[in-house]
Amino acid sequence: MRFQPTLVAASLAVFVATAYAADTGAPKLAQKSSYKVGFAQAENNNPWRIAETKSMQDIAQSCGWQLVVTDAGGSAAKQVADVDSMIAQKVDLIVLPPREEKPLIPAVMKAKKAGIPVILVDRNVDQKVAKAGRDYVTFIGSDFVDQGRRAAEWLVKATGGKATIIELEGTTGSSPANDRKKGFDAVIAKNPGMKIVASQSGDFARDKGRQLAQSLLQAHPNTTAIYAHNDEMAVGAITALEAAGKTPGKDVLVVSIDGTRDALTAIASGKMGVTVQSSPFFGPVTCKVAQRYAKGEKIEPWVKVEDKFYDKSNAQASMADGY
Ligand code: AHR
Repeated sequence: MRFQPTLVAASLAVFVATAYAADTGAPKLAQKSSYKVGFAQAENNNPWRIAETKSMQDIAQSCGWQLVVTDAGGSAAKQVADVDSMIAQKVDLIVLPPREEKPLIPAVMKAKKAGIPVILVDRNVDQKVAKAGRDYVTFIGSDFVDQGRRAAEWLVKATGGKATIIELEGTTGSSPANDRKKGFDAVIAKNPGMKIVASQSGDFARDKGRQLAQSLLQAHPNTTAIYAHNDEMAVGAITALEAAGKTPGKDVLVVSIDGTRDALTAIASGKMGVTVQSSPFFGPVTCKVAQRYAKGEKIEPWVKVEDKFYDKSNAQASMADGY
């Protein structure tokens, strides 16, 4: 048979048209009195993650959810496998905080193919590849870029625009690490008297943050500020500063993000400057969004969580917000 370019072009056009026509967007959620819901947690290794998991568990009964909770133990590969097992169990809905932006995309796509809607909470996936409304229902979470910006703006004011900064980054490849860096660094770049002399990952973990701060302080003894992408690493950095004979809050200012009880306590005692809240309490808002979705409402691509700001003026009085 002779090669017929017009026939090939026509078939391709039909194929593309069919593929797009077949993509009716994120799978629907039926209206029922009870749902089997999978919550595929990334790890449960810090107060923030524990509070997030508890928030899901606390809302489950009143929302009519039979909740299946998994813990990926800090491994994106395990989190993908956990989503796989939820698909095999034929859950009605998957609630997912993707540990990293790219590795969890295949899991979202697999759930979509299986007809199971996914709601992303807390962390996002790479927006260039997967899209809310088309591949998953929505992203419920904070504006991480804005959190970094707010931390930096406080630091600019507190230091009069002059600082030597160490940045402790969160988990490499995760949306909060990428965006908190983006927001903070952009503000610092506009202030010629401020310099980020080192920026490395402490994986959002207290002891890794402590160790990293310890070695970066040795390399940069003239450091005057530490920006940690979360409170756990900030608390680790405070321990490292004290071990190095420095007074946190005086010799070195520490700024961070989350709003844990330990951070609020450190602010109240003067060891830490500020923390920008990043709420882990996703249970109630996820329940509401799932109910709206089941009713057939169109869900906005990003359900934004508004965050507070804690400094010396309100840390003590806000202790009940901490976790
Ligand atoms: O995704 C949110 C971040 O993840 C929190 O800031 C951090 O504490 C957690 O591990």
